[in-house]
Amino acid sequence: MAGKASAQVIAMRGAGYYSSNTVGAKAVIDKAGDLVVEALGSMAIKPAKTAFSVCDYGAADGGTSLDMMRRLVETVRQRAPDRAIQVTYTDLPHNDFSALFRLTQGLLGDQAKTPLAETPNLYIAGSGTSFYKQIVPDGTLHLGFSATAMHWLSKRPGLIADHVQAVGATAAEQALFRRQAMADWDTILLARARELAPGGRLVLANFCADEQGRYLGHTGGVNMFDAFARHWRDLWKKGRITEAEYRGATFQQFYKTPDEFAAPFRDKGSAVSRAGLRLDHISTTVTACPYAADFARHGDAAAFASAYVPTLRSWSETVFAGALDAKRSAHERGSIVDAFYGAYEADVAQNPAGHAMDYVHCFMVIGKKGGR
Ligand SMILES: C[S@@+](CC[C@H](N)C(=O)[O-])C[C@H]1O[C@@H](n2cnc3c(N)ncnc32)[C@H](O)[C@@H]1O
Repeated sequence: MAGKASAQVIAMRGAGYYSSNTVGAKAVIDKAGDLVVEALGSMAIKPAKTAFSVCDYGAADGGTSLDMMRRLVETVRQRAPDRAIQVTYTDLPHNDFSALFRLTQGLLGDQAKTPLAETPNLYIAGSGTSFYKQIVPDGTLHLGFSATAMHWLSKRPGLIADHVQAVGATAAEQALFRRQAMADWDTILLARARELAPGGRLVLANFCADEQGRYLGHTGGVNMFDAFARHWRDLWKKGRITEAEYRGATFQQFYKTPDEFAAPFRDKGSAVSRAGLRLDHISTTVTACPYAADFARHGDAAAFASAYVPTLRSWSETVFAGALDAKRSAHERGSIVDAFYGAYEADVAQNPAGHAMDYVHCFMVIGKKGGR
């Protein structure tokens, strides 16, 4: 372990870049939408003067969940046509909330669809409060949703000396990240337990390491995180970045197994169980990389590389840019990061076989007791 690191800035690329380059993330949310509809079906949703309250935790620019949100709203409206619906989109303060508001207001994105914000009696708000804290008042949340966000830890427990992600860390490094991840999971769940109304539900689609040891970008072909580490290491070997910068690129992430996700619920004496949460559903799912699927159809390696690498860049860029010495000019930092992704892209264009960012998720439905 190469010592402690300062807080990492976590942010997806802004100005709508995120949702227009993450077709796979949208496919995951569309799948999870079935669980949302099912969860709503098991809830006592009645006409009421108070709003039906929804949160999307870690929504980025909100574009990937828009269709799921439309389905959710329709499902609630079938049961309670006149009930107001409040949707709170949450993310970290650095998130591009302006893109989120423009997307939901129909100023960005698919112009053919009615903007979500024009749904009658639906109220949209954004919150820049981390999901490691309570975001809405006690007992007011009916349906909480989150996709592909809760693998980001509340802090980095250290740096990984010779890799970029816990999946490639030494056993000792991994143990530190696992400990942090399990403490963080409790924090997330206990905050949601306070927010949820009796009978409310959480539908979560979290990255995981599944029963077969698969995880994001590691489903049989080229290991994506190994490729990140290799290209970053190459920059150090070529003298383009310093050793400290090489070691500084450590993702503040951890992929829990289904058993680790389920642990606080299986222990009936845990703080999470005592707070009234129970696990109604848990399953894992692999969502094939849409860029690799396109490549299988068209066979153009250069086109594949120039479509595929931007999707990796959309969520990973801040980790590599943030590892660079703050004394470097913004221009220099930009050109190093461009060279890094450029090398990755050239690699994929030259040897495209096996590159794919298949998503590996753990889907969960969690209920809060009471409510009938
Ligand atoms: C990969 S994006 C997922 C966006 C969207 N939910 C989707 O599935 O397409 C992960 C998002 O989680 C956010 N995030 C990470 N840590 C967070 C935290 N502690 N609180 C709120 N959001 C967080 C990031 O800023 C980012 O926008």
